[in-house]
Amino acid sequence: MKKYIIANWKSNKNISEVIYWLNNFPNNEDSRRALVNLEVILAPPYPFLTLAKEIIEERQLPIKLAVQDLSAFGPGPYTGEVSGLNLQDLHVEYVILGHSERRRFLNESSQLVADKIAEALSWKIKPILCLDKPYFEEQGRFLSDDAASKCFIAYEPVAAIGSGLTEEPGNLLAVRKALTPLYDCKTLIYGGSVNADNVASFLKVCDGVLVGTASPNLTDFTDLLFAASLGLTN
Ligand code: PGA
Repeated sequence: MKKYIIANWKSNKNISEVIYWLNNFPNNEDSRRALVNLEVILAPPYPFLTLAKEIIEERQLPIKLAVQDLSAFGPGPYTGEVSGLNLQDLHVEYVILGHSERRRFLNESSQLVADKIAEALSWKIKPILCLDKPYFEEQGRFLSDDAASKCFIAYEPVAAIGSGLTEEPGNLLAVRKALTPLYDCKTLIYGGSVNADNVASFLKVCDGVLVGTASPNLTDFTDLLFAASLGLTN
């Protein structure tokens, strides 16, 4: 099974920085072979999706696309919202939902997150549902069992996000155990200060990582990818 490495650029980058990152993403035969055990997923800000898709296709990069949010309402009169219809043909395969930054700064409720998940699933976009202890149950309580079982579950301790203070990798075994009965958690992602130095230890105990700070800088991110891949083969 490939491990998932999800790059969440959040609200960083302008067009020229996006072009630089994608045009310089390692793609020779050696690097392709080295990264074959990873599923790399990139969540750029919305304005760069088309550009990212074009460069990914042109260079045949092994990168899948994600979005950082999705409208709960579907197509229609919802000014400023981005619907699944808007994303058609952009080859968006994943959506990050319920991120603590959106719960905190945009007041997203668990009901809204559940509605967004239902909408994502109706467009065949895989939700990556972010959750934190001690709210595992509460944050997903409006999800149907079916919807819950179709999400990737990203355990994201708020204190670890952007702080350099990671969770102990060993704790993820207990986290998976706690999440499994609630979400039929088949795919557990960890997020919170993941970098090249610690990624391998996380991938030993979960199925992937969500990377914020270490993803907009291409060197930081490729260092992380090669460290992840090496850790999996050792
Ligand atoms: P971080 O962000 O890597 O900067 O801690 C992770 C996240 O927000 O998912």
